[in-house]
Amino acid sequence: MSDRLVSPRVSQEEEIIESSLRPRRLSEYIGQERIKENLAILLEAARRRNEPVDHVLLYGPPGLGKTTLCNIIAAEMGVNLKTTSGPAIEHAGDLASILTSLQEGEVLFIDEIHRLSRAVEERLYSAMEDFAIDVVIGKGPGARSLRISLPPFTVVGATTRVGALSAPLRDRFGAIYRLEYYSVEALKQILRRSARILRVPADEDGIEEIAARARGTPRIVNRLLRRVRDYAQVKADGVITREIARAALDALEIDHIGLDLTDRHLLLTIIHKFDGGPVGLETLAASTSEDPETIEDVYEPYLLQLGFIARTPRGRVATRLAYEHLGLNPPAAGLGGRSPAAQGPAASGGPELWTAGEAHERSTASSGSEGED
Ligand SMILES: Nc1ncnc2c1ncn2[C@@H]1O[C@H](COP(=O)(O)OP(=O)(O)OP(=O)(O)O)[C@@H](O)[C@H]1O
Ligand SMILES: [Mg+2]
Repeated sequence: MSDRLVSPRVSQEEEIIESSLRPRRLSEYIGQERIKENLAILLEAARRRNEPVDHVLLYGPPGLGKTTLCNIIAAEMGVNLKTTSGPAIEHAGDLASILTSLQEGEVLFIDEIHRLSRAVEERLYSAMEDFAIDVVIGKGPGARSLRISLPPFTVVGATTRVGALSAPLRDRFGAIYRLEYYSVEALKQILRRSARILRVPADEDGIEEIAARARGTPRIVNRLLRRVRDYAQVKADGVITREIARAALDALEIDHIGLDLTDRHLLLTIIHKFDGGPVGLETLAASTSEDPETIEDVYEPYLLQLGFIARTPRGRVATRLAYEHLGLNPPAAGLGGRSPAAQGPAASGGPELWTAGEAHERSTASSGSEGED
């Protein structure tokens, strides 16, 4: 499902386009006002002290601007940026060679920082704290450890899962910023800017229509802009109006709040196969042929934000809002209602609760509900 239009994840060819649309300075970065304010102070204070910026951790769903912000931090400080990622640093030795190559004040961007191995992570936090790293020289009984001091530098970590970070690592960051979904107003500003850069003629209504369907995510807003532009060029005179945007996005099966087929499939699976839930993440993944991590990182955050699903100790539950959005009748509360949301966790789906019609559908789903968050 990587070609999914509203996936907040980035494809390789898209990265090139993205970098042309990426704001370079803090003043061009739209939205996230609270972060911008705090970051401006952090940067200014570091400049005045003539020191590197404190380590910064950025977290939030994909496509909201973490990598962009990291680039901005380096640009605003006028320093070099080195980029790596959690999975790319396999051994403590890899980390040592990255760290020893840093110049004073440089920014080391570690994307997906939650995916560092334990051994690497432990080395990293001592390096962040003491600006020194211990390396082992030689092998066997003759091996000895040598402490190398490092010039002061800044780590900017980015993650979609702050919960997966160990407490000691989190504590090494002087500033921790959580990126929020963008308002429609902010997305409209981003669209106007991108339309200008890409030279796409678009009127205000057209812009608004796209912004409303972009799931609060700059990456998606830019992607929808390009698809609607294609449609406008092929089916009309190239100008993006509300009618054109609507027709284009309807054709792509993205509804008026930005949900696509996958989102609807996910919700309908919870509702039809699992009586509205609760259903465990693993079970839901198996019955929608998605992997659990993708559901958790990519699909679910926006559905949670909309209040369409809720996470309970026994799994995911579809809420009344989800039923209403899909044009379904929410299960009656209380008597006769089979919705666990209405009856409490005790009612969660044992086979005895299935209707005959649903039973064959169920057989394709894996059974059991695993305990989870
Ligand atoms: N505040 C913003 N103003 C304008 N454009 C933005 C903003 N934030 C992000 N963008 C646009 O959205 C695209 C995606 O942002 P970015 O790559 O920084 O997201 P990310 O949070 O790093 O995503 P991931 O978790 O997938 O790495 C950027 O190329 C940029 O064009
Ligand atoms: Mg990124």
